[in-house]
Amino acid sequence: MTTKVPPLTYKVIAECSVTKARAGLMTLRHGEVNTPVFMPVGTQGTLKGLLPDQLIELNCQILLGNTYHLGMRPGIETLQKAGGLHKFMSWPRGILTDSGGFQMVSLLKLAQIDENGVNFCSPFDNSECMLTPEHSIQIQNTIGADIMMQLDDVVKTTTVGPRVEEAMHRTIRWLDRCINAHARDEDQSLFPIVQGALDPELRKICADALIQRKVRGYAVGGLSGGESKHEFWRTVHVCTDLLPKDKPRYLMGVGFAADLVVCVALGIDMFDCVFPTRTARFGCALVNTGQMNLKNKKYENDMRPIDDECECSTCSRYTRSYLHHIAAMEAVSCSLLSIHNVAYQLRLMRSMREAIQRDQFPQFICDFMAKHFEGEP
Ligand code: GUN
Ligand code: ZN
Repeated sequence: MTTKVPPLTYKVIAECSVTKARAGLMTLRHGEVNTPVFMPVGTQGTLKGLLPDQLIELNCQILLGNTYHLGMRPGIETLQKAGGLHKFMSWPRGILTDSGGFQMVSLLKLAQIDENGVNFCSPFDNSECMLTPEHSIQIQNTIGADIMMQLDDVVKTTTVGPRVEEAMHRTIRWLDRCINAHARDEDQSLFPIVQGALDPELRKICADALIQRKVRGYAVGGLSGGESKHEFWRTVHVCTDLLPKDKPRYLMGVGFAADLVVCVALGIDMFDCVFPTRTARFGCALVNTGQMNLKNKKYENDMRPIDDECECSTCSRYTRSYLHHIAAMEAVSCSLLSIHNVAYQLRLMRSMREAIQRDQFPQFICDFMAKHFEGEP
């Protein structure tokens, strides 16, 4: 009998001796991923304004896709005929899909949740749809992502009272329904999500329950939604203390540079956020000193690149002045700024990995923070 290689393996390569940061190697069916990693978000099976070849040139190893969007369009039948999302979008590397409920609840505000699942009104034709744990997994099995997320019951972080506890327990019940519905465990890894808002006790009950299930990695959810930084970081710290050290930990929906640095120090390995690509659409470039709004008149005649140390194709070819002048032409400027912003995020993660491997991460944090809050160049 041959034993098949699991669809996800994870190995810690180096640990910081002062903080909880670690550098690791995650191996998926679609290639290797060096952690800590940032996953750019490609909502409809593309990253707005970026092609797979451009992402490969940026050394992007894993992308995030949304079950909710992909299940609506192109839809499960088309994805099935295409043989999954990797083939459909011609992306040979890693993909992680989120389960869909969070997007409906947080973005559409059209959803109602009960024990069966998330009930929502389709924005395409106003019809009523129900996303159950089983249905989310069925769509994600068809998409074929390397990592899939459980359907979870997410409350706003600032929610207090019995609703928080109900959502946490329901998340555990939905995890078991997801595990039972998962039909491709030999190719795809299902990650559970720790919920419990800002309550350390609830986070502990949730993490303890998830740890008892056989899974290959864990996510921390329900954060970055209006809580204070103190509460946000404390909750991440509580969760990483509870989760096993030999599996990857993914903090959902976090992508501001300073948060990435702090949360890597707290032991997080994976992140995703729409922020770098969304802010690009508004004419904003990410730089070491914060953000550069290229629509600002002061860049009208600025013949420098966004960042003279950035090796992306935008910085090697275009000036701030040019980007200022095309800022109104959404498609082109979005594409050029997205390239730079994704390059920025991936470079930040690489610098952190290298600093951890040299055991110089504390110094990295000091240098990063000093520069980051200096202001726009
Ligand atoms: N994206 C950001 N936060 C969350 C969360 O708590 N759950 C899910 N499923 N997706 C998220
Ligand atoms: Zn650049």
